[in-house]
Amino acid sequence: MILRQRRILIGVTGGIAAYKICELVRRLRDLEAEVRIVMTEGATHFVTPTTFQALSGQPVRVSLWDEAGEAAMGHIELAKWAERVLVAPASADTIARLAHGFANDLLSTVVLATAAPVYVAPAMNQQMWANLAVQANVGTLRVRGVQVLGPADGDQACGDIGSGRMLEPHELRDILVASFGEQPLRGRRVVVSAGPTYEDIDPVRFIGNRSSGRMGFAVAAAAREAGAEVTLVAGPVSLPTPHGVQRIDVRSARQMHEAVLKASDGADIYVGAAAVGDYRPADVADHKLKKAGGEPLRLELAENPDIIGTLAAQPRHPFLVGFAAETRDVATYARDKLARKGLDMIAANEVGGGRGFEVADNALHLYWAGGDAALPRAAKTELARQLVARIAERFLANHGSQS
Ligand code: PMT
Repeated sequence: MILRQRRILIGVTGGIAAYKICELVRRLRDLEAEVRIVMTEGATHFVTPTTFQALSGQPVRVSLWDEAGEAAMGHIELAKWAERVLVAPASADTIARLAHGFANDLLSTVVLATAAPVYVAPAMNQQMWANLAVQANVGTLRVRGVQVLGPADGDQACGDIGSGRMLEPHELRDILVASFGEQPLRGRRVVVSAGPTYEDIDPVRFIGNRSSGRMGFAVAAAAREAGAEVTLVAGPVSLPTPHGVQRIDVRSARQMHEAVLKASDGADIYVGAAAVGDYRPADVADHKLKKAGGEPLRLELAENPDIIGTLAAQPRHPFLVGFAAETRDVATYARDKLARKGLDMIAANEVGGGRGFEVADNALHLYWAGGDAALPRAAKTELARQLVARIAERFLANHGSQS
């Protein structure tokens, strides 16, 4: 399993999000990581040490002055044992202590004494998060190389809405997994397009398609995990932005064309997972169209620019990965698009009848000049990781690992 014998220390502090760490510990243990928990006194008001002891299979430490605990694995040993330290949820108080180098409780002492990379996942009320004192402390931690994960935006336990939610357990797990993995795209810039485009007919109607954006968002997250700096150009979808990814929202194919071209300037790789509308109404009505009194309503359609085709026509362009969404003869159409659009790789998927669009899983067949590979049905998140690994392989084969 991918985290076998990896040693992760989680520092849990006092916040309602502490209950989510139970799920994180389980997920890390599923991947065979060794997990040890240090709790602040405040954290024990939310989840008991016994719960974490049962989930981690290891004694849980709370106090610096616990003689039995110190005799078993002292705080310095604990700090040396850890290959990664994650403080989650990180309260405003703990962030302040870490920023100022306090060492008057077990967690702050371990963080000071460890040589392992430290990750901090803040969780607090949005007004507290926005407070300049908190922001200054977070800034100090960042400058010192602590990786601050999130927080995310959304509904809060206190009823507020805003920034301050801890990242979800699966996101924290993925970040930890990625931190141990090879990052073949480290230092590379990747642009991904995702989702549908909407082509307005009038102020209330549009032509769209069934793309949910899930495949493209998963590709963006996987490229980020692989170490790339990622820009995600997203059509109109309501998905959360993957951690660490820069997102540009667009609506129409022409807006996507403009955003992708701009973002791809100097980029290493472009992955076109968006289902771009091939046509748009030639004219957009200023007011809502009225029924034509029984007569057929005719819409004249104009062709949209081909985004990936425009990139391919540029003398210096990124490594180009297209998708082919087909309802039949997938291999034939995909190979034809690979050649016709001048792509480096194409990922073909069968769509329609509950496949490809909207659903959480997918299957892909990759084609490139001189080769192909099947990626069997799997969750889009998993499939995207496999796709990105293949893209990195082909990209590095073409460009060399240093260029
Ligand atoms: O979003 P989901 O619900 O998760 O669904 C995923 C998906 C099925 C949308 C995705 O896996 C997929 O197949 N995306 C590409 C869909 C598509 O538009 O395929 P196409 O065969 O029409 O286009 C071929 C390629 O040209 C694509 O890379 C497309 O982004 C690109 N294109 C197409 C038209 C255009 N005007 N500009 C383009 O760049």
